[in-house]
Amino acid sequence: MMDTVSNIQIEKIKNSKIQSVDFKNIQFGKQFSDHMFVADYKNGEWKNLKIVPYAPISISPSCAAIHYGQSVFEGMKAYKDSDGNVLLFRPIENAKRINISAKRMCMPEIPEALFMDAIHQLVELDADWVPKAEDSSLYIRPFIFASEELLGVRPAEEYKFMIITSPVSSYYTGPVDVKIETHYTRASEGGVGFAKAAGNYAAALYPAKLGQDQGYKQLIWTDANTHEYIEESGTMNVMFLINDVLITPSISLYTTLAGITRDSILTLAKEMGITVEERRVSVKEVVDAARKNLLQDAFGTGTAATIAQIASITFNDERFELAPLEQRTVSNQISTLIQNIKRGRVADTHNWIDRI
Ligand code: COI
Repeated sequence: MMDTVSNIQIEKIKNSKIQSVDFKNIQFGKQFSDHMFVADYKNGEWKNLKIVPYAPISISPSCAAIHYGQSVFEGMKAYKDSDGNVLLFRPIENAKRINISAKRMCMPEIPEALFMDAIHQLVELDADWVPKAEDSSLYIRPFIFASEELLGVRPAEEYKFMIITSPVSSYYTGPVDVKIETHYTRASEGGVGFAKAAGNYAAALYPAKLGQDQGYKQLIWTDANTHEYIEESGTMNVMFLINDVLITPSISLYTTLAGITRDSILTLAKEMGITVEERRVSVKEVVDAARKNLLQDAFGTGTAATIAQIASITFNDERFELAPLEQRTVSNQISTLIQNIKRGRVADTHNWIDRI
C-alpha cells in the first residue's frame, strides 16, 4: 500500500466484463480489463485525473499524435502471489523511463507520484483481472500522446496520459528463430532508439515482416553506420553467452532501450557469479562463436516475454542452431529466479517488488 497524492475521480463500471474472458486462451493485448486511467495536459498542467470504464475515446482527426507521432508508452506487469496479493515489478523504473521518452519527444513529463498513484489505483480496482496462472499476468500499458488539434509542425500543447491493462499469457509459445538484419535499421546515433516512442515500433514493422515472410520470428538489429554491431532483437534487448561470459550491447550510444528486464537480469547474473560484459557486441564475434560451437546461449529480454530464448540465428546464408533448451542453464536459471522474485516466492533483496 502507498499513500496517494493525486486526486483521481473514480467512475466504476456497472457490470464487469470479466466473465466473458477465457483466461486459458488469452491472446496478447487483445482483451482489456474493466477500467482505464485518463488525464489531460492543458495550460501547462496535468488535470482531470480519472479512472473510468474502459471504452473508446473521442479524438479530433487533426490530433497531432496521428500526424506527427508524438506518442510514447511503457509496458509493465502485475502478478499474483500464492496468497492472491498483487505485486508490481520495479514500477518506479517505468515512471522514470516514460519521462525520458517524453522529454526526447518534446512531450510533458508525468510526476512520478502521479504515475505511481494512477497505476496503483487502477490495478487495485481491477485486481480480479490479474491472472493467477504461472505463465500469465496483467500487462499494464501507460501511454502519453499529443491530443492537440494541430497540423503545424511544433510540439503540441495538449496531451493525454492514459493507462489501460490487459490480461496476458506467454508472449512467445517457444524459442524463436532470428535473422541478423544487415540492411534495415531500427535506430541511429542521435535518434530516438532509447525512447519507447511509438514510431520506433512502426519503423520496425516492415523489415520484421520481410523477415517473417522468410520464416524468422524476429530480427537481430545491427547499427545504422556499419551493420557490424548488434543492438537489439525484435522489440527486446538481447544477450549472448559465449565462453561462460554473458555479453550484451551497451546502452551508452542511446540507440537501444534501457530495458528494466535487461537491468534486472544483469544484476541477477552478476550475483550468480556470472561474468557480465556490457559493451559493443560485433556480429563477427557472435557468428565466429556460433561457427566454433562456443555460443552457449542467446536470448531476448523484455517485459512482454521476460526471457525469449533464441532457437537459431541466421546470418546471410548460414544458419546456426543453438543448444537444446535443457542445456541453457544460464537463461533457464535466471528465468526461474526472476519469476520467483516477481511472484514473491523468494526474498526481494533489491526492493524491486511493489505491493498493491
Ligand atoms: C517488450 O518486450 O516488453 C516489448 O517492448 C514488447 C511490447 C511492445 C509488446
